[in-house]
Amino acid sequence: MKGRFNWWAEWMTRKKAYAYAEEKQLNEDKFNAICAGTGLPNIHQKSTFKFKDVADGAARFIGNSPSGEKPFARIYTRLGNPNTEHLEKVLFQLECQHIIDNALKKDEQTPTMASLVFASGMAAITTVILGFVRPGDAIIVGNVYGCTDSFMRFLQKRFGIEIIFVDATKAENIKQTIDAHPNVVAVLIESPDNPTLQLCDIEAISKYTEPEEIMLIVDNTFCSPFLQQPFRLGADVVVHSLTKYVNGHSASIAGAAIGPYEFFSKEVYPVYKDLGPTPSPFDSWLNSLTLQEMGVRMKHQCQTAQRIAEFLEAHPKIERVFYPGLKSHTQYALCNKQMRNGGAVISFEVKGGFDAGVSLMNFFARNDTPMELAVSLGSVISYIEHPASMTHAVVPEEDRIQRGITNSLVRLSIGVEGYSVLAEAIDRGLNQ
Ligand SMILES: Cc1ncc(COP(=O)(O)O)c(C=O)c1O
Repeated sequence: MKGRFNWWAEWMTRKKAYAYAEEKQLNEDKFNAICAGTGLPNIHQKSTFKFKDVADGAARFIGNSPSGEKPFARIYTRLGNPNTEHLEKVLFQLECQHIIDNALKKDEQTPTMASLVFASGMAAITTVILGFVRPGDAIIVGNVYGCTDSFMRFLQKRFGIEIIFVDATKAENIKQTIDAHPNVVAVLIESPDNPTLQLCDIEAISKYTEPEEIMLIVDNTFCSPFLQQPFRLGADVVVHSLTKYVNGHSASIAGAAIGPYEFFSKEVYPVYKDLGPTPSPFDSWLNSLTLQEMGVRMKHQCQTAQRIAEFLEAHPKIERVFYPGLKSHTQYALCNKQMRNGGAVISFEVKGGFDAGVSLMNFFARNDTPMELAVSLGSVISYIEHPASMTHAVVPEEDRIQRGITNSLVRLSIGVEGYSVLAEAIDRGLNQ
């Protein structure tokens, strides 16, 4: 909606000057170097920080930091913490290195982007939305994770925000919805979406949102910055569940949001400090540690996933496979354009429908199989789950079926176990 965000014009100038990139990916070696080479700070497991004197405390409360560190990271941990600040910086580099480089080349003096880490992915998503939403606004929502979906329905029911669910895998649907609803202020999408692994053309959607001053928010959880860097494609805000690939070991819950500095400092951060969705210092330290080898881990997971998807596609007991890295995926070309590879999540339907899927999943619930029956994804351990009764159970059945989340759909998150072990076990599970 034009004129709705007073930071839009400034952001647009900077977005055009710094954020668009011919190169859709940060070079893999540079990516791994950023991850590995940042050095880990000590753990600041504390809730409050000693000031040098009254002037120092007062300066920090108005956002001044005498030694150049993040202004609010040394007052009280709900407002920020050095461990969280460290993780925010590394994630910021991974998503925005090209923006930083371009801004430095033009001798930009003030920050363009901001990065915040949260106690969960849901905390990141809800805080960003509460940072801008007002009565009378409409938000377009694609096929999103179950709890994101139910939060949007809650906003509609409780506060009268208009939520318009659309199939965002066709960019024209977004255009038509914007044309029909002059009160649209934001579009929220996931690509690949969860769990049907359909892609949204981020660049094409941004061509529709940008002239209308509509914020394009991309949940980049399924890719992590290793597979996709949405600012290069036209996103305005990027959110993550760090619980998945960044943590990589299912050892903690965390989230992140990165976006225009003006928006984050004036609208998102005030909500953050009052809601208190702050992560613990130890979890931020832990995620900074696991982030160090994320690219190496993910490369292996994605290579295995590509082979497992091909194996499933050729398996006589499998009905259909959804994986963007397969040539048979309807958006294979788009995957090559906006992702480094097809990722490490695969969805499929087993011949025999729901019962056959349940039988396979129960096979992996056993202790002697190299996979767990569990929700979540991105871990070094492979997981198998049933979206319709688990991660997406909160989505009303009619909407679920319409989005392709059928009762027969099974979701697989590939870990680091290796192709031969996983393929052999899946084959055994299908033939039991
Ligand atoms: C795509 C996506 N976004 C957000 C979330 C929420 O993240 P968290 O569980 O860290 O709150 C999830 C969780 O599964 C997810 O899959």
